[in-house]
Amino acid sequence: MNGQLRSRSSWGVKGAAVLDELIALMGLSAEEAALLGDLAGEAAVRGPQMAEEFYGRLGTHANAVEFIDGVPMAGLHRTIIEWFIQLFGGSYGADYAARRLRIGEVHVKIGLPVRYPLAMLDVIIPHGVAIAKTSREPEAAQRAFYKVLALDAAIFNQAYEDNQLAHLVDLVGGEMLARRLLAGEG
Ligand code: HEM
Repeated sequence: MNGQLRSRSSWGVKGAAVLDELIALMGLSAEEAALLGDLAGEAAVRGPQMAEEFYGRLGTHANAVEFIDGVPMAGLHRTIIEWFIQLFGGSYGADYAARRLRIGEVHVKIGLPVRYPLAMLDVIIPHGVAIAKTSREPEAAQRAFYKVLALDAAIFNQAYEDNQLAHLVDLVGGEMLARRLLAGEG
């Protein structure tokens, strides 16, 4: 395996450009985006209940609680509700991608293992599904919701990967070498 890793086009897709790439990969259409956009009001109504359940679940896990201890709960609720409503914003462009990447970076900076936010999507999903059911096209809206949630998880994860890669590139002096190390070549 030593030295076998080949350069890949996907490595050149950086920052907010990952969203366009993923939208194309997942085939999120303008109609699907619009269906979700119509549900923003429902998301706002359901947001507080979702936030209660989200922090209720987190609160049962001591390892996760360490990260929110001392952080004002009202602010945490507000930001996750805002994040949830924006899932139904109906517009998924460069601004959306940059904002979502930044949210990922905030979690990188507090040293939060990425498995916690990803696992917590389990709390989000039933709320999104319930909102999709109120759509004039419930099945299409649910499929669209799954897509934007998957996009979000991918972008969140990308923030972690970008951070690790950037530090390794600094350390070893080149992206190819860093990628070889991350791939286990060495
Ligand atoms: C689906 C998963 C999650 C989402 C969507 C989410 C969303 C957010 C958002 C939107 C913010 C505000 C970011 C900003 O300032 O721009 C935030 C901040 C924060 N989140 Fe999360 N979060 C998630 C999971 C978690 C988990 C699992 C924890 C802890 C165990 C956590 C702890 C925090 C903390 C402590 C802050 C405040 C950080 C600071 O301002 O220094 N989050 N989160």
